[in-house]
Amino acid sequence: MKVDVLLGLQWGDEGKGKVVDVLTPRYDVVARFQGGPNAGHTLEFEGKKYVLRSIPSGIFQNNNINIIGGGVVLDPVLFAEEARALESSGVALKEMLRISRKAHLILPTHRKLDAANEKAKGAAKIGTTGKGIGPTYTDKISRNGLRVGDLLHNFDEKYAAAKARHLSMLKALDGDTDVAELEKQWFEAVEYLKEYPIIDSEYDINEYLCQGKKVLCEGAQGTMLDVDFGSYPFVTSSNTVSAGACTGLGVAPSRIGDVYGIFKAYCTRVGSGPFPTELFDETGRKLRDLGHEYGAVTGRERRCGWIDLVALRYAVMVNGVTKLIMMKSDVLDGFSVIKACTAYKVNGEETKRFPFDATGVELEPVYTELPGWNTDMTAMKSHEEFPAQFNDYVAFLEKELGVPVCIVSVGPDRSQTIELRK
Ligand code: GDP
Ligand code: IMO
Ligand code: MG
Repeated sequence: MKVDVLLGLQWGDEGKGKVVDVLTPRYDVVARFQGGPNAGHTLEFEGKKYVLRSIPSGIFQNNNINIIGGGVVLDPVLFAEEARALESSGVALKEMLRISRKAHLILPTHRKLDAANEKAKGAAKIGTTGKGIGPTYTDKISRNGLRVGDLLHNFDEKYAAAKARHLSMLKALDGDTDVAELEKQWFEAVEYLKEYPIIDSEYDINEYLCQGKKVLCEGAQGTMLDVDFGSYPFVTSSNTVSAGACTGLGVAPSRIGDVYGIFKAYCTRVGSGPFPTELFDETGRKLRDLGHEYGAVTGRERRCGWIDLVALRYAVMVNGVTKLIMMKSDVLDGFSVIKACTAYKVNGEETKRFPFDATGVELEPVYTELPGWNTDMTAMKSHEEFPAQFNDYVAFLEKELGVPVCIVSVGPDRSQTIELRK
């Protein structure tokens, strides 16, 4: 059996949560492989809306097994808040959810360090979500981290050492060292977290595969935020690409089956960093208003622009995408002209490669214009209803990206999803 991977191809918020929920009935297991509560995955169905941060998006259909994998960073406080809200809305979470022993813990001091690091960067700040993601992964890589499995043995000693180290770093950065209240909440939340099965997720997942169970790996953030391949340094601190599913869950590369790559019919980004097709005009504002482009976690305005096929081609390449999923096409329903960036002019020369440092060069997108479809598609149920111009847009993207579009999303609700081919 193979695992399928579903991930974002742009700068996050492509609609991963919605599609994982839609695909869940086809799988036995859904597992998050990286990131943490910097993610905000929105699901809408039966008139209700949920935003998931650390918990996989496979919890609402067929009582699947859901796993928080070892590549994830987990904040007990935010986890408890999210899990308790789900439990009180009737989700039998303790029966469905398991947590990897190897997932790293976000400590109260990690959050403070995130804020202090951003302050120290001044105008060069990354615009992080402030959830302690960078400092927690830094501790992981520098071999100073604390893991969920540590909660079960001599934790107080390990915690005290980490806290002392963090406080001295915070003092050096002139950061806020008052963690008493956060710490109280944190230890209370840890007791709640321990009510969930803490597992060796790499063994469990491989055993499920041997038993013929189907596993879907859920990514967070997007390829252009990957720490190795994204628009560094304006990235997150984990591997958001398909290879991250191997390291984050303990599945071998030969076990990867389909890679679903999700993108919006246009493009957005939140936080600082390069965004070649960003629009600062009326069209950008129109995309933001129609797409309700405000962060699910921070409420920040998302920057908006036309679809960027240079960045998308790159993302398809590094992930080995086998199936594309186009989201939010309804946002373009009322545009008479749609632009797609097919190349960049970098320092006057045309290129189809994403530059090493997209902020340090003069970069101008080269656009192809396509006619819009000027049709409200939000109530459509089948691809047979699609207007010709919409089919032309999809065919154009497939040709440019070299991979078929399998699913189109025409609205935020679970039901507003149209499968073109399996
Ligand atoms: P994720 O982080 O990739 O799961 O995406 P987010 O949940 O952060 O952002 C996607 C937003 O778009 C959410 O508010 C979704 O409810 C919404 N959404 C998802 N698909 C569609 C769609 O096809 N059309 C519209 N209009 N909204 C969508
Ligand atoms: P989902 O899973 C969009 C961005 C932040 C910031 C940068 C680093 O919902 O798509 P971090 O807190 O990770 O250190 O911030 O990454 N970012 C996201 N942008 N969607 C996300 O997640 C994001 N997670 C982080 O805005 O620019
Ligand atoms: Mg999101």
